[in-house]
Amino acid sequence: MPIRNFSIVAHIDHGKSTLSDRLLMRAGAITEREFRAQTLDDMDLERERGITIKASAVSINHQHNGENFLLNFIDTPGHVDFHYEVQKALQACEGAILVVDAAQGVQAQTVANAYAAIEADLEIIPVINKIDLPSARPEHMAEELEQVLGIDATECIYVSAKTGQGIDELIDRLCTQLPGPSGKADQPLRALIFDSLYDDYRGVVAYIRVVDGEIRKGQKIKFMGQGEREYVVSSLGRHTPKRTDIDALKTGEVGYVVANIKELGDVRIGDTITDADNPAPEALPGYEPVSQMVFCDFYPGGRTQYDELRDAMDRLVLNDSSFSFSPESSDALGFGFRCGFLGLLHMEIIQERLEREFNIEVVQTAPTVTYEIEKVDGEVFTIDAPSQLPDPSHIEEIREPFIRMAIMTPANGVGAIMKLCDDRRGEYKKTEYVGTERVILTYEIPLAEVIYDFYDRLKSATSGYGTMDYEVIGFRAGNLVRVDILVNGDRVDALSMICHRSNAEQRGRKLLVKLKGEIDRHLFEIPLQAAIGGKIIARETIKSVGKNVTAKCYGGDVSRKRKLLEKQKEGKKRMKRVGSVDIPQGAFLAILEAGE
Ligand code: GTP
Repeated sequence: MPIRNFSIVAHIDHGKSTLSDRLLMRAGAITEREFRAQTLDDMDLERERGITIKASAVSINHQHNGENFLLNFIDTPGHVDFHYEVQKALQACEGAILVVDAAQGVQAQTVANAYAAIEADLEIIPVINKIDLPSARPEHMAEELEQVLGIDATECIYVSAKTGQGIDELIDRLCTQLPGPSGKADQPLRALIFDSLYDDYRGVVAYIRVVDGEIRKGQKIKFMGQGEREYVVSSLGRHTPKRTDIDALKTGEVGYVVANIKELGDVRIGDTITDADNPAPEALPGYEPVSQMVFCDFYPGGRTQYDELRDAMDRLVLNDSSFSFSPESSDALGFGFRCGFLGLLHMEIIQERLEREFNIEVVQTAPTVTYEIEKVDGEVFTIDAPSQLPDPSHIEEIREPFIRMAIMTPANGVGAIMKLCDDRRGEYKKTEYVGTERVILTYEIPLAEVIYDFYDRLKSATSGYGTMDYEVIGFRAGNLVRVDILVNGDRVDALSMICHRSNAEQRGRKLLVKLKGEIDRHLFEIPLQAAIGGKIIARETIKSVGKNVTAKCYGGDVSRKRKLLEKQKEGKKRMKRVGSVDIPQGAFLAILEAGE
């Protein structure tokens, strides 16, 4: 049976999920009712669905010219916004459907995802979706695609994932245009793990693409990157999208493997599975290691305990290998974890997944980027928290990560965006026109200047139409300093920040104003100071109160008094005491807003 392995890539909201549902429905894998139920669902369910059904690969059968094709649709694990995640899925495919919204046209991530597919050497099937919309301009968008990406406009398939129009042509093109998998059936087993997850009953479930040979039930296997430990395949199969057990996955096929693996650390995304008795001489190239660029701390919050948070992260990392964590403790927030992410959005997604999938509450500190430090004695190393910065007298140079950012905007947003980028120390590189109405601006800009609220600013500067994408281009030296925050004379490590000297004072001052609003008055006056080294650069004061809160209710009824006390106690639980000052957890996030 001919096999076609493909993935769908798109800019967010261009209809990737709807189109995949439509494809599944067309192949009879889901019913019309399920299709409607799913697409009309709200975000919560959409996300859950994305994880339960399409975490990895769905196999459908399709009759084309009298031949039965096995179409394996490999979805990107986690969220599609991250190139790295997209790249992982793409490596398991021969083709990609590139979806573009017929009303919105090519966006920043359309370009980024298309390049990822081209780099992975995939055959691209361009699709213009949502042609049913009154504002759709399919031909125009096809030309745009040709202009920006060099994809032949006449190759585009016009579809509506919503009404089903054009889907038949798309499925036929999957069969005719995409090449079949090219592995060697007579070689020892080599299977690429492109995703995995933990199931309470089955242990680790690894999603694989068989590159060479075949994998069978009962076979002894091992992971080439993990030494000699052997496992016996207890079940394998594919999702159709129902889980369907089968006896073997052959060359080029995609599916899942269960082998009673209880140790989460034994399975690594990107590793190669081989036969334990007849191992392949060489592992598959796997995935390039990624460098994490954004870091923050997660501490257990609300009712969540430290151990619960750790267990949840152990499981999550199995499903998203580009996120990392290590134990951390802070004077102010107790025991938690220092976590590394590919970028800001990645951070948000991980936090959200912890909350949704594991019912965990976290307190997150402000994100920072990685800095490269060169000491006077020539030693070079990286730090991912301001508190790790050595004494300034030992530092020769601090280097910060720079990104090349492509911003796609309607032409009338250009002025506002240029101002925004200038304010954030961006270096202008070039302007490219997409037709007459839209522009791609390229800037090189410090990542640290983008991690706070850049995206929101971009959206408001362009009435929501601007989109951005970036890649890290390396470290550059900058006039950077650490600003420490002293509360009542005590330095609060979790509030330190590294920033450019030119705006250190302004940021320090803003943070103090925020803090002042967050920290309650105490019985004594509390000075708040921002300092660079020993030099105070800004100061605010929280005035003292002399009275207990219940004093307000003097003479009032008892229940109201009790309520107030309860409320005060409730608030206290989420306080951290530094020296003799109670700092609410919200204050640790004030630094986020001070970044503006
Ligand atoms: P993310 O999962 O958030 O990345 O988005 P996505 O690319 O998967 O898009 P999704 O399928 O969630 O679609 C985004 C919105 O576009 C939804 O409100 C869909 O109902 C709508 N949509 C998708 N396809 C079509 C279409 O062909 N026509 C119309 N009119 N709306 C569509």
